[in-house]
Amino acid sequence: MQLENLLIEVKDNILYITINRPKNLNALNIKTIVELDEVFEEYMYNDEVKGVIITGAGEKAFVAGADISEFADFTPEQGKTMSENGHDTFDKIENYPIPVVAAINGYALGGGCELSMACHLRVASENAIFGQPEVSLGLIPGYGGTQRLVELIGKGKALELLMTGDSINAALAKELGLVNYVVPQTELMTKSEELLKKIFTKGPVAVSKVVQCVNAHFRGGGYVGDSYHTEVTQFGQCMETEDFTEGTTAFLEKRKADFKGK
Ligand code: COA
Repeated sequence: MQLENLLIEVKDNILYITINRPKNLNALNIKTIVELDEVFEEYMYNDEVKGVIITGAGEKAFVAGADISEFADFTPEQGKTMSENGHDTFDKIENYPIPVVAAINGYALGGGCELSMACHLRVASENAIFGQPEVSLGLIPGYGGTQRLVELIGKGKALELLMTGDSINAALAKELGLVNYVVPQTELMTKSEELLKKIFTKGPVAVSKVVQCVNAHFRGGGYVGDSYHTEVTQFGQCMETEDFTEGTTAFLEKRKADFKGK
C-alpha cells in the first residue's frame, strides 16, 4: 500500500496509525481519509493485529480538522460527497471488530475531534484541546460530530460546544466524558497500549460483540430490531464460540483463559 499521509507500523499485535501532515497540524484532507479507509479495510481481519492506536505526528496536534484549504470553494454537491465519504470511513472505525484507541496528542478540532469520537476509547495528553469550531467557518461538523458528541457528553453541553465553537482542554474533556484518560504526553502511548493489552486478555469475539451491541443503541438497533434484542441475539451467539468454552472452562479449572478469537 502506497501511503502519502499516514505512517503505519505493526508491533506486538498493535497497528499504529500516525496521521503525518505536521506542517498542517495533521489536517485531514480527502486523500488522508481515503488512506485511513484503505488501512482499516486492509487490517480488518489480519491475525497479527488485535488492536489499533491512532495518533498524530508531532507534539502539537492530533488532527486540527478537515483541511480548510481543500474544501473552501466546494459546491454543495462536493460537500455532500465529502461528508458521505467521511461518514463511511468513520463508521468503519466505530464498528471495527477489534479495539481502536485514539491517542490524542494535541489539538483535536473539527474532523480531529470527530475522528477521536469514532474510536472506541480516547486517551488524551494534558495539552490536548477539543472542539467543533465549524460554526466559525459558517459550517457544521460533517463527519458525525453533531451525533457522536451528543452521545458522549449529552445534548446540553454538546449543543453549547457546537453552537459556540468553543474549545475545551483535556481536563474538562475528561470531566465531560469525552475522553477516558488524561496523561502527560510522555505517557500517552504507554497508557493507550496498556488499555489495549488489558482488552487483549479478554475473549476477542465477545469484545467485538460488545462494540456491536453498544453501537446498536445509537444506530436504530442494529440489524435485528431494537438494541436490547441485538444484545439478546449476540449473547446467545457467544455460546457457540470456542472463546466461551475456553473462558468458562478456564474459570472452573482456576486457570487463565487462552482465547483464540473463534
Ligand atoms: N486546515 C488546513 N490547514 C490548517 C488547519 C486546517 N484545519 N489547521 C491548521 N492548519 C495549518 C495552518 O493554516 C498553518 O499553515 P501555514 O503554516 O501554511 O500558515 C499551519 O497549519 C499551522 O497552523 P497555525 O494556525 O499557524 O497554528 P497556531 O498554533 O497558531 O493555531 C490552531 C493552531 C489549531 C488553533 C489553528 O491552526 C486553527 O484554528 N486551525 C483550524 C481549526 C478548525 O477550524 N478546524 C475545523 C476545520 S472544519
